[in-house]
Amino acid sequence: MIQTVVYDTRPYDRKHLEHAAAGRIRWRFHDHRLNAETALTAEGAQVVCVFVNDHADRVCLEKLARAGIRMVALRCAGFNNVDVPAAKDLGIALTRVPAYSPHAVAEHAVALLLTLNRKIHRAFNRVREFNFSLNGLEGAEVYRKTIGIVGTGRIGKVAATIFRGFEARVLAYDPQPATDWAAAHGVQYTDLPELLRSSDVISLHLPLLPETRHLLNKDNIPTLKPGAIIINTSRGKLIETQALIDGLKSGRLGGVALDVYEEEEGIFYEDLSGQVVLDDVLSRLLTFPNVLITSHQGFLTHEALAEIARVTVENILRFERGEEFLPETTL
Ligand code: NAI
Repeated sequence: MIQTVVYDTRPYDRKHLEHAAAGRIRWRFHDHRLNAETALTAEGAQVVCVFVNDHADRVCLEKLARAGIRMVALRCAGFNNVDVPAAKDLGIALTRVPAYSPHAVAEHAVALLLTLNRKIHRAFNRVREFNFSLNGLEGAEVYRKTIGIVGTGRIGKVAATIFRGFEARVLAYDPQPATDWAAAHGVQYTDLPELLRSSDVISLHLPLLPETRHLLNKDNIPTLKPGAIIINTSRGKLIETQALIDGLKSGRLGGVALDVYEEEEGIFYEDLSGQVVLDDVLSRLLTFPNVLITSHQGFLTHEALAEIARVTVENILRFERGEEFLPETTL
């Protein structure tokens, strides 16, 4: 039976991978991450399974190859943490899960907006202390508001459709507009400055690229509609965080909800509740009553995790049988 070492394992990874494999893969689960220092812990296996914070650089891959590893299965879509040419040189097969559930992330963006907009995060804490006062909890409706969707790929399209269900007006910006889809769903494409000026809510659904870094910044945040709410479930570095803080302090921004943060690496996914947090920017953000932060959990649904596990397991079993990988999963 093929043996696979899983790095950076969380209880939910283990549950879904074991379920999908149904006894057909011998697993070894490690809590720690894969990098050049830890690569030797793969000894004896044929496959390693990694996530976004594992670092499979050339040195690491060379060690894996010497330890007998022939395949790296990424249980995520992004692959910036793996040296793809080095894996090719070493004859190590690479797979990933390019798309699992756009609904998971789109619904999380909507959940963040509704929580923030209706002040549910504050109401939850109040009621637990038997404070049933409504003062300060006045919210606003999504109905008939203008929602600006930046990036209308898989996730942005689902988010736009959900917002149309609220009878909101949906504006969109994408350098590659899906015009037929927009016409069918009553979504209106516009340019980015116009979207930023006119939207009550701006939700980001585009990838992080050199040209999209700090898409929202100190120059354009002051041009947003007064009271605008920003939702980011895509990548932290799309927003210049200091400019967000300035926008919140000046009152220009009505609220900010983030599932991702510029400097999240080493913070998100960890329990730091017993430690002194050294990131002053994140600490400042968390002091605002109109800021809501989740720890990069947009993908964390039963359905998405089951799909990630299904594709990963299927590719490992195909590798064992010498068959081709599932379409579009090979790197
Ligand atoms: P996708 O590749 O299907 O769509 C991305 C869209 O962004 C494309 O239509 C593209 O043309 C557009 N785009 C590219 N440059 C742009 C620009 N400068 N301005 C506006 N639009 C631009 O990607 P998908 O699957 O919809 O994912 C979107 C984002 O969601 C990704 O960046 C990914 O990082 C993030 N994500 C977050 C997760 C979470 O757990 N929070 C989980 C999965 C993805």
